[in-house]
Amino acid sequence: MGKSAKEIDSFKEFEDLLIKATNTANEGITISSMDQPDRPLVFVNEGFERLTGYSKKDVIGKNCRFLQGKDTDQAPVEAIRHAIKKGERTTVELLNYKKDGTPFWNRLSITPLKDKKGVTTHYVGVQSDITELRETQKNLKAANKDLALFQERINFELEEARRVQNFILPATLPENETLKFASVFEPMDQIGGDFYDIIEIEKGVYGILIADVTGHGIQAALLTFMTSFAFKNAAIQTSSSSKVVAATNKKLYNKMPRGSFITMFYAVYDSNTKKLTFTQAGHPEGYVLRPATRQLFPLISESPLVGAFSSDSVNYKESEIQLEIGDKLILYTDAILEVWNSEDIMLDKEDFITFLINNSHSPIDDLLGKIKSFGLKYSGQETFKDDFTMVGLEILG
Ligand SMILES: Cc1cc2nc3c(=O)[nH]c(=O)nc-3n(C[C@H](O)[C@H](O)[C@H](O)COP(=O)(O)O)c2cc1C
Repeated sequence: MGKSAKEIDSFKEFEDLLIKATNTANEGITISSMDQPDRPLVFVNEGFERLTGYSKKDVIGKNCRFLQGKDTDQAPVEAIRHAIKKGERTTVELLNYKKDGTPFWNRLSITPLKDKKGVTTHYVGVQSDITELRETQKNLKAANKDLALFQERINFELEEARRVQNFILPATLPENETLKFASVFEPMDQIGGDFYDIIEIEKGVYGILIADVTGHGIQAALLTFMTSFAFKNAAIQTSSSSKVVAATNKKLYNKMPRGSFITMFYAVYDSNTKKLTFTQAGHPEGYVLRPATRQLFPLISESPLVGAFSSDSVNYKESEIQLEIGDKLILYTDAILEVWNSEDIMLDKEDFITFLINNSHSPIDDLLGKIKSFGLKYSGQETFKDDFTMVGLEILG
């Protein structure tokens, strides 16, 4: 402080320096006297002149309200009045007019200067032109509104698409004294890439499909349609699971977007012979649970996935298993195995298998519900990260 006192020799020199400094500011800087009638301006910097187009000569001695005009909102003016009355500082945004009549948005801060007794002698005002900012805010608000409307429309469309997608799922599941089917279907997005189907190919012979198309959303949903139609077409023509999968592959190959494919597990159950024939095409193995002996049979017939390879280069295999009364077939998509706990450890398949064996006595729909709860409990989440689909069959008699 001592040094600066030496450098600035006179009060005049100090005053000149201060005025120079205020003139460098882009903002308007103004001082009003509070002890003169109508609180006139006693100082304005060059920033104020640039901002408003008024010269010092025009404005010194006048109250700054001359900047207000016909569209100036009264609420901020009232806020200024109130602050001055109380000797407080305030900041408002209000519409002002330049000397040539151009309106501009002014962010005005006024701060009282008090004497030793605490009496307000002056107010310092800082004016910033925030017209562009207001314009940007307005555009942003409008854009946000448009975006919200767009989002609403998309959600509606997705909801509709989901409703339509439900048509490819069986409306009801076959049930009689010899068998009972059950299913769980929970797409991650409104529409997803999983689907399943159960069709009666001929009396007492059922085709049971579970499929997972790559990706989610609209593209995956469209592929589920294509796959479903190709599959249905093939399934009604033969009761060989491998032939159906091969025919589906033939229909879809070359029609899929690059990098897209389908994994599927297709089983044909003949309730007359209780024989189950199946083809596992790039899909997780299925299981047959035999509660009476606490056995679990993995259903494996390793075959390539569908839609990615030309029909000449792939060979779909089928295997078979003889089922017994009380057996349960469980087919699923990978969501149940791809769950991680809070320590980032993936569910151990052996634990899943043990869980299945321990719960194999449960009726088929209870069992599917229990499997779902088991996965969610392991992850500690309320929903799965992927589409979650299961199909079950219980042999009753
Ligand atoms: C230091 C200071 C600067 C001010 N600057 C502006 C301004 O830039 N624009 C404006 O509309 N009002 C400004 N005002 C507010 C008006 O001068 C006046 O206080 C306000 O219109 C409310 O008082 P009234 O009811 O007497 O008009 C300023 C006030 C002070 C004390």
